[in-house]
Amino acid sequence: MWKYFVFICVFLQTSNAVLESDANTLVLLDNLAIRETHSIFFKSLQERGFKLVYKLADDSGLVLSRYGEYLYKNVIIFAPSVEEFGGDLSVEKLTEFVDDGGNVLVAASEQSGDALREFASECGFEVDEEGASVIDHLNYDVSDVGDHTTILTSARNLIDAPIIVGAKKSAPLIYRGTGLLADKENPLVLHLLSAESTAYSYNPEQTVKEYPHAVGRETLLIAALQARNNARVVFSGSLHFFSDEAFTAPVQNARDGTINKQASNQDVATAISRWAFGESGRLRVAKVNHHKEGESLPPEQAYTIVDPVVYTISIEELVEEKWQPFKANDVQLEFVRIDPFIRTTLKQVNGGRYEARFKIPDVYGVYQFKINYDRVGYTHLYNTTQVSVRPLEHTEYERFIPSAYPYYSSAFSMMIGVFIFSFVFLHFKDENNAVSAKSGKADDKKMQ
Ligand SMILES: *[C@@H]1O[C@H](CO)[C@@H](O)[C@H](O)[C@H]1NC(C)=O
Repeated sequence: MWKYFVFICVFLQTSNAVLESDANTLVLLDNLAIRETHSIFFKSLQERGFKLVYKLADDSGLVLSRYGEYLYKNVIIFAPSVEEFGGDLSVEKLTEFVDDGGNVLVAASEQSGDALREFASECGFEVDEEGASVIDHLNYDVSDVGDHTTILTSARNLIDAPIIVGAKKSAPLIYRGTGLLADKENPLVLHLLSAESTAYSYNPEQTVKEYPHAVGRETLLIAALQARNNARVVFSGSLHFFSDEAFTAPVQNARDGTINKQASNQDVATAISRWAFGESGRLRVAKVNHHKEGESLPPEQAYTIVDPVVYTISIEELVEEKWQPFKANDVQLEFVRIDPFIRTTLKQVNGGRYEARFKIPDVYGVYQFKINYDRVGYTHLYNTTQVSVRPLEHTEYERFIPSAYPYYSSAFSMMIGVFIFSFVFLHFKDENNAVSAKSGKADDKKMQ
């Protein structure tokens, strides 16, 4: 009886822990007013099942993990001005969190503190200097009569990846904040939204005039990082981008006077948060199978060279919280022994199951079936299966090789030639020899 009670307690405990770690999201704020000014964004997260825990970024009781277990799966940092996180949280802890697979969404502003700056550089972005805003004297919102820092950028400047930013939009995006810079060479960094070519990032109050750090389309507004462990970090230079005001207010471009009832901010912010927190663009390998053609299981020890082989892999995508077959036509397989010997496009056989048929190369060794599927917005799929390939056993070679027929015929013709020659040599005596043999006998008689 007592045992059952303990068992039930343990069961309740673990199921509870799973739920918590699955849905909980830590939201760090500069001040609690941000909860109100950004209520639409937070509400959409809650409607999608996220449990938000709001804390001030300098709260002395902040903890990210307890006894080596993370309390949250996602962190939102809407605290641009924080210089140093409170409690147990620090930039190192945050970086570790990402290294362990946690997702982070950060919004900065013109007055970003050191904490965000440091975290940005850990992720491969650079936040422009303190006080610098993105300025555009052509594409700004007409409500901005000051220094043109409330800019509009066309939806064309979004990254071409609907899985991250949602379907194509026509209305522009409104933005007020600082510019970001990112390394172009870094393949893990994605440039989600950039400014118009007429924009630049600059601090107008700067005493020593300098060339701006970012000019034109180089000025990144929102950047993202998908780490090698598929953890996702989204970094926006603007907190205003996610605000109720930006979601709902009409916008008018000062350049040509086009009015839109609403900017595209809400759609884009929702899509980006879905991507950042792993609701979209997630793939996994469900099953891998390989075998000789005509069989159904892999060979017990090794394949033999030139065996015909069939490789199948099932790939699934997370759609609406369910794993469903992933459909694409660009999944490739490599058969690798240091270098790829074979590279082939997999054929979709029935939604989500991909197949390749090929002949194993005529070289033995240790090979891998390798899938390395890396597409913008999707989880980086990497799966390898190691197999050995052995040479033929000595009984498995062919008895006669077609290309050696000239050799066989020369050997046999030689044998036949020798036979005929020896037959002729032994059984035929020519006349002269016969005479000389007789005269030889005559000579013998004479001698006697
Ligand atoms: C490849 O996928 C299979 C099936 O999901 C899994 O068992 C295996 O561990 C994966 N291999 C690697 C190297 O990830």
